[in-house]
Amino acid sequence: MIFKNAEVVLKSGVVRADVTVENGRIAAIGKAGAGDGIDCTGLTLFPGLIDMHVHLRDPGFERKEDILSGSRAAVKGGFTQICCMPNTQPVTDNKVVVTYIKERARAAGLCKVHPIGAITKGQKGEELAAIGGMKAAGIVAISEDGKSVQNTKLMANAMLYASDFGLKCLCHCEDASLVDGGVVNEGYCSTVTGLKGSVRAAEDIIIARELCLAESLGLPVHICHVSTYSGVQLIREAKARGVKVTAETCPHYFTLTDDAIRSFDTNTKVNPPLREEKDRLAVIEGLRDGTLDCIVTDHAPHHEDDKRVEYNAAAFGISGLETSFALSYTQLVKGGILSLPQLAEKMSANPAKILGLEGGELETGAPADLTIADLGKKWKVDPKDFVSKGKNTPFAGREVFGKVVYTVVDGEIKYGEK
Ligand code: DOR
Ligand code: ZN
Ligand code: ZN
Repeated sequence: MIFKNAEVVLKSGVVRADVTVENGRIAAIGKAGAGDGIDCTGLTLFPGLIDMHVHLRDPGFERKEDILSGSRAAVKGGFTQICCMPNTQPVTDNKVVVTYIKERARAAGLCKVHPIGAITKGQKGEELAAIGGMKAAGIVAISEDGKSVQNTKLMANAMLYASDFGLKCLCHCEDASLVDGGVVNEGYCSTVTGLKGSVRAAEDIIIARELCLAESLGLPVHICHVSTYSGVQLIREAKARGVKVTAETCPHYFTLTDDAIRSFDTNTKVNPPLREEKDRLAVIEGLRDGTLDCIVTDHAPHHEDDKRVEYNAAAFGISGLETSFALSYTQLVKGGILSLPQLAEKMSANPAKILGLEGGELETGAPADLTIADLGKKWKVDPKDFVSKGKNTPFAGREVFGKVVYTVVDGEIKYGEK
């Protein structure tokens, strides 16, 4: 199969070329001869996007999402590989659950799904999960996402143990005692709404702790969904002195501020919370200067019943797979912050590198995982169009640029606009 006459996003720049696929791999990038193909004139071809932080809710919360619906949302959003967090029921803390997820994903047959194992049994923060067994079953990292491991000694042991298996810890950073029931960022907007605030320090203290552990153990660590200006600065300083840290953020942290909570729309409730303008600008600067390596969705689909309740009672989370690419392209590339190759780096190459996944760049011999988008296409976010079961987005009605037209996995078209 040949994808003809596309604007191809290579690491070194954007070139007009044909991409030839054979046996599920990229056979050539350049001028192809005559032959069957898909005309990609006017379209832009990226390395298949990789989202290293999603919640698929399966097993246990299939009312919110399941592996098939989540995979459909992923390919519609342009993702060829996704990594799913372990806060399922039962928790993904053993090889049986890991195997279940992989089998369901294979049956869905859409994108590649890589499970992430829990750090502790049942995410209870008491004893380490069966990390070796999960690694053998196919996890690509461990994480306690949804919370932090509160006991520092246990977290240090987790990092040591994980490194024996060549795994990284992906750290959701939140000091539970400081959050103390806060549901939004503490600041002017929490005051005017009367919603209980949570200070930046609740996130920053655990970011700093994980950086200290990584530095003292000489091990790599990855910081999840950075939302604070001060967290960005902690990571920037740690990188400068050689700490092996990588970090991610999400479209909502560089697009929205806590001003959005004044509507009391529970779709703005997310953890960590939307912060203030100086945080949003620092997150953008962190992406620009390389402090923040990846853009992830933290796709957190919820059922209407979990969101159509009073703000304090609503679930935390945003359904992000179907808006991430367009929000990132619109905000960062059209906004003049990142080039297309840099966007591809944040949404594909770096996640692959951090987790040791195949793919992430367009080169001959690589798996033919491709995301083909119409960057000129303007569209309006409408949760009714989501194929995810989670319709919970704070972006409803927003106009964005960049529509995924084809998502190709191992040379097969898994999503097509037409
Ligand atoms: O907003 C969030 N939702 N943050 C998390 O850390 C967990 C996630 C979820 O599982 O719903
Ligand atoms: Zn999290
Ligand atoms: Zn998460």
